[in-house]
Amino acid sequence: MPDRSDLSDLYQEIIMDHRRSPRNQGLPAGHDHYADGFNPFCGDKVSVGLKVEDGVIVDVGFEGEGCAISIASASLMTESVMGRPVGEAVKIFDAFRGLLTDTGNGAGSDDLGDLEALAGVKAYPTRIKCAILSWHTLKAAIDRKAEPVSTE
Ligand code: FES
Repeated sequence: MPDRSDLSDLYQEIIMDHRRSPRNQGLPAGHDHYADGFNPFCGDKVSVGLKVEDGVIVDVGFEGEGCAISIASASLMTESVMGRPVGEAVKIFDAFRGLLTDTGNGAGSDDLGDLEALAGVKAYPTRIKCAILSWHTLKAAIDRKAEPVSTE
C-alpha cells in the first residue's frame, strides 16, 4: 500500500502522462452527439463528440486548448466513459463531480480509478473548473445541448 507521498507522486505522474499524451484527442468520425464547453474564468474552450449506438458510447473524443489539468481531465474522461452505457457515463460524471466538491450524493465513494488523480484540485476552486470543463461538455453532448455550456 503506497503511503500518501507515493500516492501524490503517482497522481502527478498520471496527470502529466495524460497532459503529454492525451488519449482520444480529436472528434470521432461520424459522431452523433456534440457540444462545446467554455471556462469563462480563463477563456479556454473544449469540444466533445460522441458516437452512441444502442445506448452505448462506442467512440468519444475531444478538441480544445487549455491548461494541463483541463487536458489531462478531458483525456481521463474519454478513457473512463469509452464503451460505457450513457447512463453509466452520467453516473461517473456525478461521482467525479462529488469527488471534486464533496457534494456528490454518496456517488463520490465509487471507485473512480485514475480519475482519483484529480482529487487534489478540490483545494483550489479555480482548478476545479479546469478539471470539470470537459465533463460538463460531455454531459451537454449527451443531452445534445446546442448552446455552449459554461463551468459557471
Ligand atoms: Fe483554462 Fe484551466 S486555466 S481550463
